[in-house]
Amino acid sequence: MIKKYFNKKLQRLFISKNFMKILYFFHYIIGGRNAKDINISFDNRKKRSEIVQKIIDLKNYKSYLEIGTFKDDLFKYVKCEKKIGVDPVSGGNVRKTSDDFFKDNNHTFDFIFIDGLHHYAQVKKDILNSLKFLNKGGIIMLHDCMPRNYYYQAVPRSQLNWNGDTWKAFLEVRTNKDVDTYCCYADEGLGVIFNRKNKNPLELNLQNFKKFKFNDYVNNYKEYLNLIEYDELIKIVEKYE
Ligand SMILES: C[S@@+](CC[C@H](N)C(=O)[O-])C[C@H]1O[C@@H](n2cnc3c(N)ncnc32)[C@H](O)[C@@H]1O
Repeated sequence: MIKKYFNKKLQRLFISKNFMKILYFFHYIIGGRNAKDINISFDNRKKRSEIVQKIIDLKNYKSYLEIGTFKDDLFKYVKCEKKIGVDPVSGGNVRKTSDDFFKDNNHTFDFIFIDGLHHYAQVKKDILNSLKFLNKGGIIMLHDCMPRNYYYQAVPRSQLNWNGDTWKAFLEVRTNKDVDTYCCYADEGLGVIFNRKNKNPLELNLQNFKKFKFNDYVNNYKEYLNLIEYDELIKIVEKYE
């Protein structure tokens, strides 16, 4: 009870405007002032709800898991026979953290959408756990893989519109030869993981992806992310078995 109360207070503090202003200044000092931007926009591009549903319908998927549901802006629109939405705070239909959910879980899924806590270590855990519960021929999708500037991805969060450092966990999984990985240029960057050999693995021998330099990502983001357009993604999904 007391723990819950303080957790809520802390969460409020972390997203309060003044606290975020202080964090923004901190990020400016430690790296933001020398960071480059990427000139990208997601306006006039497909939304995640449309893309997720298109894939579920195309593949006739029967089971859907969403990690991090918030206001159900995606979860409520997804039409699928079995739907589980996990969030410790709001939305979905399972009130747990993703770690607690996976610990007790005995379901498997055709489609898993990862959009929980946008911190490298947590996203990495969510990817590894999701792979354990993914059906053959299934797909994992990750939201927020394409930050456009330093502050969009800086941890701790210093602005409301925020991707976190999900991109670092996605680049790490891109080096895995046993899963095939792409990023669709839509809706903040949709990382896509297919359960088959990697056709274009990222060849980077980095010990700690948490320390990946943002400017390095900016200079090479198309290659690093294996960036594709929506139409290309749909063609890949159509051929996937
Ligand atoms: C960006 S929102 C999700 C948005 C939603 N998927 C959508 O498409 O509209 C992130 C959510 O992740 C939840 N979250 C934070 N930590 C989490 C964790 N450890 N496990 C699962 N969800 C978590 C937050 O409570 C928040 O509701």
